[in-house]
Amino acid sequence: MTLWGATSNPGKLREFRLAAHGEVEILALPGLEEIPPAEETGTTFEANAAQKALYYSAYAPGMLFADDSGLEVEALGGAPGVISARFAGPAATDEANNRLLLEKLGAATDRTARFVCVIALAEKGRLLGTFRGAVEGRINDQPRGGHGFGYDPLFFYAPFGCTFGEVEPERKFTVSHRGQALRAMLAWLRAGDRRNCPPAR
Ligand code: IMP
Repeated sequence: MTLWGATSNPGKLREFRLAAHGEVEILALPGLEEIPPAEETGTTFEANAAQKALYYSAYAPGMLFADDSGLEVEALGGAPGVISARFAGPAATDEANNRLLLEKLGAATDRTARFVCVIALAEKGRLLGTFRGAVEGRINDQPRGGHGFGYDPLFFYAPFGCTFGEVEPERKFTVSHRGQALRAMLAWLRAGDRRNCPPAR
């Protein structure tokens, strides 16, 4: 089975493929760069993932998934949340986002945070389901490690004893929000019973 992924982020694609373990073929939607970008106006990960999946599914020959993900920091009331990619501005770099996060957190003692990922699956403009994964950690006081992307160098994951930036993607995907959401979608596809689909949110 082939699933089309509406992402051109190589870090995300790599994690999706690792999590899929060859069970399904995950291909980037061809010509994604030329398609006018989908709107992301939702206030929840579910709403944004669904918006993207529905929009891009019109360009895919089969089932297409899109994800929306981000970091929720307790001491910041859940920010940056759905604006994680553009926390420091519309074209912010990962470094700028990380810097701003550290600035905003200052010397806060509660550094609890979670990565959340919601994957929406759609086919020809019809939403088939949404699937959520989350992983808990805390924000380190400085970036560590050169792996991953986004906030990985700041995300300290206690069971590993280091940040996500310090582990290979192969290890990260075993516990990551993205891996969990993808595995939930695969389990649903495997069950093959659409009546058991988590209601599309
Ligand atoms: P999206 O492309 O709208 O889903 O934005 C996701 C943003 O959240 C990314 O650009 C990162 O800043 C952050 N993010 C989501 N997942 C991860 C992750 O696994 N590691 C690091 N940062 C992440």
